[in-house]
This record gives sequence, C-alpha cells and structure tokens, in this order.
Amino acid sequence: MTLHFNDSGVGIPVVFLHAFPLSSKMWSSQVSSVVDAGFRAITIDLPGFGRSGGSIRSIPETARLVLSVCDHLGIKRFGLCGLSMGGYVSFEIIRAVPERIRFAVLCDTTPEADSEEKRSERFESSAEILNDGPHRFLEGMKNGFLSDKTSSDPKLQNEFDELFSEADSKSMAAALEAMAVRSSSKGDVEHFGFPVVAIYGAEDPMIGAGRSMAASAPSGSFIEIEGAGHFSNLEQPESFNKALIAFLKEHAVE
Ligand code: MLT
Repeated sequence: MTLHFNDSGVGIPVVFLHAFPLSSKMWSSQVSSVVDAGFRAITIDLPGFGRSGGSIRSIPETARLVLSVCDHLGIKRFGLCGLSMGGYVSFEIIRAVPERIRFAVLCDTTPEADSEEKRSERFESSAEILNDGPHRFLEGMKNGFLSDKTSSDPKLQNEFDELFSEADSKSMAAALEAMAVRSSSKGDVEHFGFPVVAIYGAEDPMIGAGRSMAASAPSGSFIEIEGAGHFSNLEQPESFNKALIAFLKEHAVE
C-alpha cells in the first residue's frame, strides 16, 4: 500500500491526521501557520483517501501505518493533531506508543467507542454507499455537521462540496466499518502524560465528549470555536489557527 505524506518546515514535528471522508488537504491552512510559527508539519493521507492507496482496514492498523511514516522520517517523538476520525487514529497511536507523544491536539472527536445503534447505522451507511453511491450520505453529513454560519456561506459550501466529492465509495465504506468496531479509549485519557488541548466547534455534536475528555486529561484544556460545527479547522481557520499556535508555543518545546 502506498501512503502519501507531506513534510514541511523544521522544528518540533506535528503529525496531522485528517477527518472522514476528507484527506490531508483539509490541513493546508494549518500547515502554513504551523510552519511559519517555527514547527515541522507532517500531513498524511490515510489509506484510501487523497493520494494514498489501499483502504482503512482497522483503526489500529492505520495507527501502525502512521507510525511507519514517522519511523521512515526518523521522527522519534512528535505531537499529534487529529480531527474526528484523525482523533480515533490518534488515540490508537497514543495507546501503542505513549512514550513517543509530546502533546496532542484532539479536535471534534471522541475517545468513546460507538454505541450499538451507531454501529448498525454505520454498517447500513456502508452498504448504502456501495450500492447507491455516497451522495445521500454526504448530504446528511453536511446537514448534520456544519454550523449555521458555514451553511449560509456559499464559498465554504463549495469548499466542502469539492472536498467531499473526492471521496471514493469503497474507501468510505471500509472506513465506516473500521470506525464502527474501534475500541473505546475513554479509560486511557486520565493517564495521558502529556499536554492535551481539545479544540471543538461550538456547534459540533461531539462537543460534550470533548469537554469531558479535556476535564479527564491530567494536563487538558478545552477551546470552543464560535461559528464552527464539526470541521472546526475548515469552518473557522483563523480562530482555529490562533488556538493551535498558542498551544504549540506553550507546549511544543524541548
Ligand atoms: C469524521 O469527521 O471523521 C467523522 O465524522 C467521524 C465519525 O463518523 O465518527
């Protein structure tokens, strides 16, 4: 399987992990801010998304693939920045190699596993996408996940349409099934031995999970992004970048 990644800048490495069903392209505004602020940004297209081949077969396997990119680049210790599905992969990486983690920026995600109901919904969506294509599913995602402000902004709507249109049905179905059976990481959070910031859109349906995660992490903080829903970095890039850079300046230090 070929994994596509980009490595820019110098300094303490931040590994960016994208949401479903997007690609590393979603981080372009963060990469320039982080590099300008003196950090190294590594973005990876997870299997089946962007320019990477294969498909996501499980979240733990995806975490191992991300670690193989870090090994290939000779990066021993790094910070993580994962949004939603990228957060699920981050939790697995943390569980596998906690000693390699400098800090974690966990956005619009949850350390909890899926409920039975959510799990069945995901399998139904996966079957629907394979049979009828992703159109209906993606419309549902846009309606349920974007803030009111984003939904009334034609430029942002176009941006989302473009990003969503790149997703391929087979890769989406595989990722949905892998997310459905992921383990809970809820019990791990209170043992996180590194700084954590939870950045969530004020209208993200996952915001409750973010608040409890930040409260349970020993060195956790919580930042709410006004005017954003589930894709906080894309919906409000300026506020997101401000929060991200402030956290990095304080915690991404030797
Ligand atoms: C994502 O944005 O990555 C997805 O919403 C994750 C999920 O479906 O749980």
